[in-house]
Amino acid sequence: MSAPLLETRGLSKHFGGVHAVAGLDLAMAEGEVLGLIGPNGAGKTTVFNLLSGFLRPDAGAIRFRGGSLLGQSPHAICRRGLARTFQIVRPFPRLSVLDNVMVGALARHPAAPRARAHARAIVERLGLGAKAAQPAAGLTLAERKRLELARALATEPALLLLDEVMAGLNATEIAGVVALIREIHRGGVSILITEHNMRAVMALSHRIVVLNFGEIVAEGAPAAVANHPRVVEAYLGEEYVAAPSR
Ligand SMILES: Nc1ncnc2c1ncn2[C@@H]1O[C@H](COP(=O)(O)OP(=O)(O)OP(=O)(O)O)[C@@H](O)[C@H]1O
Ligand SMILES: [Mg+2]
Repeated sequence: MSAPLLETRGLSKHFGGVHAVAGLDLAMAEGEVLGLIGPNGAGKTTVFNLLSGFLRPDAGAIRFRGGSLLGQSPHAICRRGLARTFQIVRPFPRLSVLDNVMVGALARHPAAPRARAHARAIVERLGLGAKAAQPAAGLTLAERKRLELARALATEPALLLLDEVMAGLNATEIAGVVALIREIHRGGVSILITEHNMRAVMALSHRIVVLNFGEIVAEGAPAAVANHPRVVEAYLGEEYVAAPSR
C-alpha cells in the first residue's frame, strides 16, 4: 500500500483534567472523504486544531505527505497543502468577499494580480460572485459558510478539513454545500469532515471514524457505523441501546 496522505500516531492533547484527544491513531488515504463524528465535546475540533498547527500536541506524531507536521506553524502547514475551515466562521468583516478569499490565495500566489484572479475564480465557483465586492460582515450565515470554504480552497489544498460547514443551515442550503463538497472532491482534494448532520456526513464519506472522549470508539463504512451499538450509545446514552432488546 502506498503511504497514507495523513497519519497520526498517539496524538494527545489535554486541557487541565480534560483529555480532549487521547492517543489518536488516524490514517487517511489520498482521495478519501473521511467523516469524523462524535457527540459535543468529543474532541473533533481539537483534532483539527492539532492537525492544522493551531494547537501543539502533548504527545504523538502527525505525518502529512510523507513529512512530519510537528512544530510547524499554521501558515507552513497550509503551504504544505493542508487547509481547514473554522467551526466559528471568522472572515475579516470589513474586507470584501473577494479580498477575504484573496488572503487565502496569497499563500500560493505572492503576486497580487495572480492572487486576485485566482480568488475571483473561486468566488464564482462557490456561488458568491454577486457578493464579491460586498463586505463580509453583510453576508448571511450560509454565505459566510461558503466564504469560509472559499478561503480554505484558495490556498489550493491537497487535504481540506471541514469543521461543521453545515451547522445552522436549512435543508436547501445543506444540499447546496453537499454538492459543493462533492465537486471539490472531484477536483482532486481529499476531505476530512466533522458534521453533526448525520445524513449529510454519511452520504459524503467513504469511511467514518467515531470519536468519544478523545478516543476512537468505532470506525468503518457509513452504513455499518450508523448501527454500531457504541455509536448509538455515544450519541444517545446507554439506556437507548438497552431498550430495543427488551
Ligand atoms: N481551548 C480549550 N481550553 C479548554 N478546554 C478546551 C479547549 N478546547 C476544547 N476544550 C475541551 O476539550 C474537549 C473537546 O472539545 P472539542 O471542541 O474538540 O469538541 P468537539 O468534538 O469539536 O465538540 P462540538 O461537536 O461541540 O464542536 C471539550 O471537553 C472541550 O470543553
Ligand atoms: Mg467542534
